Amino acid sequence: MWDEDKIIDLKKTIVFVGMPGCGKSAIGKRLAERLGIPFHDSDAMIEKDQGCKITSIFEEKGEDYFRQLEKNTINKLVSGEVCIVSPGGGAFIDLDTRKLIQDKSLSIWLNASYDILLERVKSKNTRPLLERGDKAEILRELFDTRLPIYEEAHLEVQSTNIPHHYMIDYVIDSIDKYNKEHEQ
Ligand code: S3P
Repeated sequence: MWDEDKIIDLKKTIVFVGMPGCGKSAIGKRLAERLGIPFHDSDAMIEKDQGCKITSIFEEKGEDYFRQLEKNTINKLVSGEVCIVSPGGGAFIDLDTRKLIQDKSLSIWLNASYDILLERVKSKNTRPLLERGDKAEILRELFDTRLPIYEEAHLEVQSTNIPHHYMIDYVIDSIDKYNKEHEQ
């Protein structure tokens, strides 16, 4: 049984990192609800600010422009009140954005297998990077090149297909353990 009362008093903002489809938004939103603190999805914020979809930003202004917007948005979020942030999968790959996240928050890598990721992303067309050719091949390339960078996150939690409430318990336990180990 999961424990709906299992909560934790966060000292720092949590930023979920990991590949597209690893569950950053799904888990982030539910963790924030459980803890009663704000949740921010940086892609959704960028879309609202720009008045258009991420796909259009990539098409019309290019990836570098998007990365700049992403960095500015994440900087604001990690500099504000304690909250849960779910950025896009490439945010942690950008050196400057990664430094911001590492310096100002507790980063949690949701590590899902390639097969799980492919299953989750294959029917969607909202991710411009995966629309540039064969989805499975692009995902494989991103997976292989990005993994060593995601490994730099403060914490790693396996992302599987277990129900979300179990994943939340698991994330809370991991944060608790990390905080205890880093208290002294
Ligand atoms: C990207 C992931 C997307 C989105 C953009 C770029 C990436 O977010 O930010 O399409 O570089 O991995 P999700 O990780 O939520 O799919």
